[in-house]
Amino acid sequence: MNQDQLKQAVGQAAVDYILPKLESDTIVGVGTGSTANCFIDALAAHKGAFDAAVSSSEASAARLRSHGITVYELNAVDKVLVYVDGADECNASLELIKGGGAAHTREKIVTACSQEFVCIADESKWVATLGKFPLPVEVIPMARAYVARQLVKLGGDPVHRMGCITDNGNEIIDLHGMSITDAKALETDINQIAGVVANGLFARRPADLLLLAGSQGVRTIYAK
Ligand code: 5RP
Repeated sequence: MNQDQLKQAVGQAAVDYILPKLESDTIVGVGTGSTANCFIDALAAHKGAFDAAVSSSEASAARLRSHGITVYELNAVDKVLVYVDGADECNASLELIKGGGAAHTREKIVTACSQEFVCIADESKWVATLGKFPLPVEVIPMARAYVARQLVKLGGDPVHRMGCITDNGNEIIDLHGMSITDAKALETDINQIAGVVANGLFARRPADLLLLAGSQGVRTIYAK
């Protein structure tokens, strides 16, 4: 199977996993990216089985609506049963790097509101140590240079993602060259820098479950 087929397989596996949990008033949290798109497309066949979705990006909201799935604003919702999203990297503790699609701030918010976070990925995303994928940091535009100087002090090489404006109107710095052995500490340290909106480490709130697609099929992995 090629990578696109693995993404489709894991998108379908996520639908199969959540389907028994869905009720007529269920709100499903939906992430962003090409793997999340596969989940959205597979979910569309079951749009009568739940109430609506909340989304972590304008792009995913548009895709959901194109399938006839209702999308609520997050502020209008009390409870999100489950959030399903991809990742750029994941480790055995189900800590993640996210934000390759510049949506990690909203992804963190929807994750925080959700009872369960199911991460979906193909096996190319599985790593022993996080950090080979540059860590995205969303910043208030006027703070970009200051934040970059602080990130250098943390040992990384910050690169401005040119031409990228997030759904929140902010900019992205990609932090290269980090070998992240204490993801919770780094997530906290970066969050302390004035002007940082959110960074792409999901370690303080990791995934609850990882569905990982490989040539042998889709494996279900819980945190060690
Ligand atoms: C977007 C994300 C995505 O989940 C991450 O970039 C993975 O994307 P893809 O499924 O296209 O590989 O965090 O901000």
